[in-house]
Amino acid sequence: MKALILSGGKGTRLRPITHTSAKQLVPIANKPIIFYGIEAIRASGITDVGIVVGDTEAEIRAAVGDGSAFGIRVTYIRQDAPRGLAHAVKVSQGFLGEDTFVMYLGDNLILDGITPLVEEFRRDRPNSQILLARVPHPEEFGVAELDGDRIKRLVEKPKEPKSDLALVGVYMFDATVFQAVKAIKPSARGELEITDAIQWLIDKGHTVRPHVIDGWWKDTGKLEDMLEANRIILDTLVPRTDGTIERSDITGKVVIEAGARVVASSVRGPAIIGKGAQIENAYVGPFTSIGDGVIVRGSEVEHSIILEGASISDIGGRIESSLVGRNVSIYRSQHKPRSFNFMLGDRSEVGLI
Ligand code: G1P
Repeated sequence: MKALILSGGKGTRLRPITHTSAKQLVPIANKPIIFYGIEAIRASGITDVGIVVGDTEAEIRAAVGDGSAFGIRVTYIRQDAPRGLAHAVKVSQGFLGEDTFVMYLGDNLILDGITPLVEEFRRDRPNSQILLARVPHPEEFGVAELDGDRIKRLVEKPKEPKSDLALVGVYMFDATVFQAVKAIKPSARGELEITDAIQWLIDKGHTVRPHVIDGWWKDTGKLEDMLEANRIILDTLVPRTDGTIERSDITGKVVIEAGARVVASSVRGPAIIGKGAQIENAYVGPFTSIGDGVIVRGSEVEHSIILEGASISDIGGRIESSLVGRNVSIYRSQHKPRSFNFMLGDRSEVGLI
């Protein structure tokens, strides 16, 4: 069995972060989202992995490499434009051949992994197995209508959803799916939808088995989703201190990586302080990921994700529910006249109090 990870897409809902970085590389608890998917795939025993890439190919390659660091072998497959998930399957036919495979959307996180689901698929050999999860806003997803164990209908982002069962971004297929992706036509948003391909399989009498999962799952397309994923994953960390702590209070689950220094500060977990980060005269509150080399000085940060190399100095209030990009600098301005000084990327957001 092989795996196909989809890592294209433009990440429009995460701009400006995704102007300069692939959304699958935004770190959750200081680890790129896509790494969680890779690890889940490896844990299920699959080592032959294709990664479908688009404009951000170079970065994904730089982060994942040949896969040996994860114990897998990676083949990169270029998709010329985001033409849909079914199109990604189509362009991967050469790599997938006649094998069965699991398709994993690179921005999805499933806390419990996929091992039992892959085992079930291997054992029972349906043509396809889909995962479903109950969600509060099904209209944002592909939605399934079930009749007992049978799928009646799958609709991509319906205006009036017939159920609250969303398609999770993990799918299992055998080679019949290639007939489906070739038969379907682009949707209203101009993409070849995997949802339509699976509906085609159902209509032609192939077996598509639904599996409703009850564990935590997230499609991390938006800031709120990133913060939620960060909360959930940080809570699973095992506390550890490899850095140094001086005159500070550390409470709850806190990971302090090698080379990090926490001085005259208070850190309340769950939180992670990345390699070489400097926390000085500061407060780092629950559900915060501080990236490698970040500086937090004379400031308070809580429920946030601060990416590598950013620095936050002497700001008066507390930063909360924020995503701060790489090497961003936020500081108290010394200029006269006293004024706000910004240099913000396109589509940045600043909330002042
Ligand atoms: C895609 C699928 C959708 C599925 C979702 C899960 O949506 O088209 O059916 O529910 O992934 O993450 P997209 O994120 O491309 O809008």
